[in-house]
Amino acid sequence: MNKEIVLATNNGNKLREYREMLSPRGYVVYSPGDLNIDSDPEETGATYRENAFLKAKALIDKVNWPVIADDSGLEIEALGGFPGLHSARYAATLGGDYKKVCATVLRKLAGEKNRRAAFLCTICLLERKDAKPLYFEGVCPGAITDSYKGDGGFGYDPIFHCVDPDLDFGTAREKEKNAVSHRARALRKLLVYLSI
Ligand code: IMP
Repeated sequence: MNKEIVLATNNGNKLREYREMLSPRGYVVYSPGDLNIDSDPEETGATYRENAFLKAKALIDKVNWPVIADDSGLEIEALGGFPGLHSARYAATLGGDYKKVCATVLRKLAGEKNRRAAFLCTICLLERKDAKPLYFEGVCPGAITDSYKGDGGFGYDPIFHCVDPDLDFGTAREKEKNAVSHRARALRKLLVYLSI
């Protein structure tokens, strides 16, 4: 397969992480912005898969390369899986200010002993417009920290502690996060597929 790929995202943080993980393997990752394409479909799916598919599908007709899309979220056990699929939309209700978002989540969990949480990521690959979508999933189990830690990563990283290996995403170096994150775990499966 050609090693050029389009990542269906307008999220600069996701784009940076994919580039960091894929360029050492010789992949060139384009964003819709790089190609002067506007693509911001509504995420109306009921699952990560459906949303990842909607994002990939919206772009595949407009480009000449395979498209990957990432739908991801943070699931907190004591909050019944919240914010989960709605992680980005929940943050938007607080103006996209993740310091505020993280502080609100910490407040919701005040006094809660069960801190279990996980980051989930589903990648949808569309190799051509008529191709069957393929899905690759990654889960990063962890816990919500007791306090806001560091300014590394993005989104909910400052309140996430990965358990295997022990790593606070907010203080981890990007390389450390990218070795174990939900996104890295999904991407490794995609790379196995692409190398066949
Ligand atoms: P979506 O995949 O565009 O629906 O957005 C996923 C949202 O989940 C992001 O905007 C973040 O709020 C959160 N999220 C997903 N992956 C990560 C991560 O690696 N670190 C921190 N937050 C994340």
